[in-house]
Amino acid sequence: MFSFPSSNQPSTEFIHYQGQRPDFHAEFLRDVESGLSATPKNIPSRYFYDHTGSQLFEAICDLKDYYPTRTEFSILKELTPELVTRFHESVPIVELGAGSSTKTQVILSAFAARLGKVDYYPIDISPSILNSSGKRITRDIPEINYHGIAADYLEGLDLVRKLPGPKLYLWLGSSIGNFTPAASIRFLSQLRSALHPQDKLLIGLDMVKEESILLQAYNDSEGTTARFNLNLLDRINRELGGHFDLDRFRHRALYNREATRIEMYLVSTERQTVALEALNRRFTFEDGEPIHTENSQKYTPDLIQELLSQSGFHRESMWTDPRQWFSVVLASRS
Ligand code: TRP
Repeated sequence: MFSFPSSNQPSTEFIHYQGQRPDFHAEFLRDVESGLSATPKNIPSRYFYDHTGSQLFEAICDLKDYYPTRTEFSILKELTPELVTRFHESVPIVELGAGSSTKTQVILSAFAARLGKVDYYPIDISPSILNSSGKRITRDIPEINYHGIAADYLEGLDLVRKLPGPKLYLWLGSSIGNFTPAASIRFLSQLRSALHPQDKLLIGLDMVKEESILLQAYNDSEGTTARFNLNLLDRINRELGGHFDLDRFRHRALYNREATRIEMYLVSTERQTVALEALNRRFTFEDGEPIHTENSQKYTPDLIQELLSQSGFHRESMWTDPRQWFSVVLASRS
């Protein structure tokens, strides 16, 4: 049946790639080839987030064992009324790794209620999650102009840096912790150099806590994190002609006390070779050999301070929960 588009239908405007970037496939292939040729083997964590991976990650965020999302959400609800008062006119809101934007909706609603129209630029590597959250957000909050950017962080930042300041940048979910400390300082410094003097950055960081709580969050009893980790191999099978047998790899998450971070691996359960058609070659895995797939840095107040000062940021405010399991920091250029 034919129907006219109606003007009050939710509309989302994409300023960058409605679908996957054209060169994405080549990059994926190159990164998998170099990662599986390295010792120790690794695969960059950005490739977790295809359609299935993004959905599995949303499921992780709802798990009883995965405390970060819930804890950060409670902090965001507390701080939002105060955050809004720091801005006197509507500012564009840019979010790195926005995902479903569920937590962000609290902030968006508050800005819309106080300041009216808000331009929202969520940057995410997964175009499909931007499509679905764009529809939901523009329906729930009509004041939001949704400009989804399907890109990685640097590419996305390059596009939004041209917007006039002041702006509010959001980097939630302790996504910063998926970088090594050196890489996070490098990235924050790059972000800082793109900032307008009055821009602000709201950043969420997961804190050091009792080891058993950390381990449970990344080895959940429902096995969702294991499925999420293993989906990386499934994606390689689907998109790069891989022949990984998902029953011959298992999820492993451990806590590295010295580095205060969770490390995630896919471990080969036997000696095996795996073909990759797109490369026309095979990779050998020893019995028990790990592929490193992710780090999740846990912070102390001192580590946060060091991170900010080394990358040219000044801490304006910091909020935490009663157990101090998670922190949200508002920072600006120092
Ligand atoms: N930013 C999330 C975190 O560090 C990412 C994450 C959660 C994750 N669970 C995971 C990444 C499992 C890989 C595997 O907590």
